[in-house]
Amino acid sequence: MTKKLELYKCEICGNIAEIIMEGQGELVCCGEPMKLLTEQKNSTEISEKHMPEISDFKENHKKISVDKHPMLPDHYIEFIEVFSKNKNEHYLKYLLPDEKPEFIVPKSDNLLAREFCNIHGLWGNSFK
Ligand SMILES: [Fe+2]
Repeated sequence: MTKKLELYKCEICGNIAEIIMEGQGELVCCGEPMKLLTEQKNSTEISEKHMPEISDFKENHKKISVDKHPMLPDHYIEFIEVFSKNKNEHYLKYLLPDEKPEFIVPKSDNLLAREFCNIHGLWGNSFK
C-alpha cells in the first residue's frame, strides 16, 4: 500500500514516481518492486549541504533554499518539493545545473520541504 506524496525509485532504470493518490498495489518497474525513498536528515557535513531551509520571503511567500549545495553539471539538485503537513498543498520545481537552488512558494503554515540530489538522493523533512 502506498501513501500520498511518497517517492519510489526503480533501481534498474532510475525512474522516480510520486504517489498522487494512494492505492493498495505495489509499484513495479523493469519487472522489480520500486524502492521507497525516505528523506535523509543526519547531521553530518554532507547533510549540511543538502537540508532545505525555509524562510519568509517578501510579504506573502516562503523561500526554500539549498544554498550550500553545488549546482554543477555532474552534481546538482534535480528538484525541490514543498508541501503542507496535511498534504493539501504541494509544489514542485525542477532545477538544472547553474540554476540557483531555491524555490518561492505562497506563504502557508506548517510547510515541509525536501530536495533530490542526483548523487546523494533525497533530503529534508518527512511526514513521520
Ligand atoms: Fe549532493
